[in-house]
Amino acid sequence: MPTLFDPIRFGDIAATNRIVMAPLTRDRAGPAQTPTPLMATYYEQRATAGLIVTEATQISAEGQGYLDTPGIYSAEQVAGWRRVTDAVHGRGGKIVLQLWHVGRISHVSLQPNGQPPVSSTARRANGKTFTANGFENVSVPRALRLDELPRIVAEYALAARNAIDAGFDGVEVHGANGYLLEQFLRDSINDRTDAYGGPKENRARLLLEVLNAIVAGIGAGRTGLRLSPVTPANDARQDSDAQGLFNYVIEQLSPLKLAFVHVIEGATGGPRDVAPFDYAALRSRFKQGNEYGAWIVNNGYTRAMAIAAVASSAADMVAFGKPFISNPDLVERLRHDAPLAALNPDTLFGGSARGYTDYPPLELEPA
Ligand SMILES: Cc1cc2nc3c(=O)[nH]c(=O)nc-3n(C[C@H](O)[C@H](O)[C@H](O)COP(=O)(O)O)c2cc1C
Repeated sequence: MPTLFDPIRFGDIAATNRIVMAPLTRDRAGPAQTPTPLMATYYEQRATAGLIVTEATQISAEGQGYLDTPGIYSAEQVAGWRRVTDAVHGRGGKIVLQLWHVGRISHVSLQPNGQPPVSSTARRANGKTFTANGFENVSVPRALRLDELPRIVAEYALAARNAIDAGFDGVEVHGANGYLLEQFLRDSINDRTDAYGGPKENRARLLLEVLNAIVAGIGAGRTGLRLSPVTPANDARQDSDAQGLFNYVIEQLSPLKLAFVHVIEGATGGPRDVAPFDYAALRSRFKQGNEYGAWIVNNGYTRAMAIAAVASSAADMVAFGKPFISNPDLVERLRHDAPLAALNPDTLFGGSARGYTDYPPLELEPA
């Protein structure tokens, strides 16, 4: 039986262990939304993870919903990310870019020309985002027209291509946490009456078109997907049949043979048992005919839970979020069952090196 610390090959990616750094937004890309040398240092410090999934990265200016998050749609952004991938590869790590369109979780001040954010719906989410003026209510969105959806698909495909040009080992499509693709998936949000609304086959259409376009462009072996079937994050109320919806999505993905699916179990950053859901049913559908695809689990995993998940084959890899913020050497700490450092909640979003690149590895911590 493999252990958490054993190498694994999935898709085109060979990782030295089964510990994944979960995507973590840190809002340090600055007003140009371009990765900085400080960001390269941050990721390099965490390169002993088997796989790093970057912070969510907007595929277009319209896809942005928070201040100072990075993009992957300009030549400068591609060059900035190249510094990050070079730094991680220099330490023997693997890194994929999380592709993000926030949909309605945005504010007019973050949108091109102050336009309303776009979504499956024209109904505003009940939630806040982080702007130049601090936390503000998200804006009322505009429902995307049917004839605009091919542009969204093309922007995802181009962003994936850009990610490969920037040196990434692959991409993770952000299909989780109440952002654009989940705004189409869930019947609690999507109120469309066209071919992208109504039955689950229609609500899943945009996600499946996006994945097909990316796979056609960069290959399935470099393409993964993140899902959060029952999270209430960003005013994503429960779908009336979450199990049926996500079973369907995974069944439809099966012929694509994606490199990985990364599932958030329960409420993102909250209770794992927020709603009943059979994740094993998803995993078995994903594994059907796809022996090279990795099943990655996340949310509130401790060392013991992660070791057990891999040992029992419930998961191929386990992603850690918050522990990686304050423990750049998390893999070594888990290996030796060493204590974990606590994170500083005041320095999560925005700011400088403080609370970002100044968490020391274990051997340098004061006794
Ligand atoms: C500061 C912070 C930023 C996050 N940013 C993202 C993100 O950009 N994309 C994403 O899919 N999830 C994001 N998440 C969710 C984490 O990836 C992860 O699912 C969550 O923290 C639960 O895992 P954990 O218990 O190991 O921390 C973020 C979480 C935190 C705490």
